[in-house]
Amino acid sequence: MTDEIPAESIPSEADVLVVGNGVAGCSAALAAAREGADVLVVTKAERPEETTSHWAQGGVATTRSNPEAFKEDVLAASADTADPEAVEVLVEESREAVEDVLVETLDVPFDRNESGYDFGREAAHSEPRILHVNASTGKYLLGPFLNHLDAHDRVTLLADTAALDLITHEGRVHGAIVEQEGECQPVFAGATVLATGGIGALYENSTNPDTATGDGIAMAALAGADVEDMAYVQFHPTAYAGDDPFLVSEAVRGEGALLRNGEVSESHSEVRETESPGGDRFMPDYDEAAELAPRDVVACAVADEREATGEVVLDVSPLDFAEEFPDLAEKCEARGVDWESGIPVRPSEHFLCGGVAVDDRGRTSLDHLFAVGECARTGVHGANRLASTSLLEGLVWGLRAGESAAGVQPERVEAPELLDRDPDLPSGFAREKFVRLRRVMDENVGLRRTPEGLQRATPVLRRLKGEVDAYIRTRTSRSLYELRNASVVALLVAREAMDAEPVGCHALEEPDDAESSEVPANASD
Ligand code: SIN
Repeated sequence: MTDEIPAESIPSEADVLVVGNGVAGCSAALAAAREGADVLVVTKAERPEETTSHWAQGGVATTRSNPEAFKEDVLAASADTADPEAVEVLVEESREAVEDVLVETLDVPFDRNESGYDFGREAAHSEPRILHVNASTGKYLLGPFLNHLDAHDRVTLLADTAALDLITHEGRVHGAIVEQEGECQPVFAGATVLATGGIGALYENSTNPDTATGDGIAMAALAGADVEDMAYVQFHPTAYAGDDPFLVSEAVRGEGALLRNGEVSESHSEVRETESPGGDRFMPDYDEAAELAPRDVVACAVADEREATGEVVLDVSPLDFAEEFPDLAEKCEARGVDWESGIPVRPSEHFLCGGVAVDDRGRTSLDHLFAVGECARTGVHGANRLASTSLLEGLVWGLRAGESAAGVQPERVEAPELLDRDPDLPSGFAREKFVRLRRVMDENVGLRRTPEGLQRATPVLRRLKGEVDAYIRTRTSRSLYELRNASVVALLVAREAMDAEPVGCHALEEPDDAESSEVPANASD
């Protein structure tokens, strides 16, 4: 597997410029190269593990015998807000895309049993349909994908290389300003594909790497592209609640793990057949699907029970955890967690359902600009996403967008000039502002939101963005652009959440205690 993504100097043009190296970006690059385009992939990541796709655990949902059941599950998980035409594309193309790319081209070693693929089950799926590798599916998929592209004679992969801004001219996108080791230059492209992933870095607890600063969404929005459904941020119910957190896949609950709170109440009716860790099992009191209820229901229940009883643990005693989930068992051991006593869990930011609005070929509202993967809003997820559909969406839309992006010659237009008159930023500026941004998001624009909290957050975020803008006019440091991107996206999420329908993963509550979540009026400290 690739340990490092290659770092070379930057070419000045490409037929197709792909920004981001997750499964969606790789799929777009592959499809464009298959069409005969010369493709340049730039990524901030230096290693695959700095990419969100690498962190994906559950797997790739795919159509088995009944595509209608799959479509119904996607629509139901979205609270019937997903776009049925987009869902149709996802489901109808899932099998061919998986077979073509993941099986035949990349030879991903999906887990098997005596009757063939060992399809897994996760929350809100009506049948087992998830292809997986050892609940670390992303890792086993992304490595071979990057190796394949690295060996492809039409694809150039550049690591540690960031796109800072899009080059636009008369409503059309002509590439991006790209930065490597502090040097910036334009890359002109016939088509530009944004595949920059999600927004985990906007929250203190996230299942994304901290490279997920919303870059593609911010660059597209600043260039005038439409964005949609930004209010719908999905929180995963079970991330490890200690230091150095990690996702504990829903697949573990799919195999029978139970959620328990921090108390054993006398009135609780559960009969325990075996010695199990933790306190009472609570999910049956919240939803008839119990631990496999939709993600927003489980995430809110876990948050409530943590608040009421001090902790929630995932009781893995009903399964052979080390045998079935060796990578997760290893992660527990590395952190000194005795999983036999239950794994402490809490909700963490996981996935943005909205993003840059695209059509069924990944085309944005700006000519020659495409967006795929988590940074795109295809309509597949609506207000909430069904588990293990994100790698699939990245694959299907990546292939479609890459195919459509090929065939346009790059054109050199006047590129925006980035000023670097005074490269010295106040020390720790970006880091400190990020801390503040995360605090505002966690307190007001997180799993639990109130109209008052959203109203308080917006002016604070606006002021923060204003401060960043003041610096960005004269400095081009990557961390400053990441902060700018994060503050643009944070504002989009907070503002949309004020008007969005409270459905799916955007729940609005009445405040219990408005004082406790108040953000000080002084935004600058
Ligand atoms: C998980 O493994 O629980 C996450 C799967 C997903 O978010 O699709």
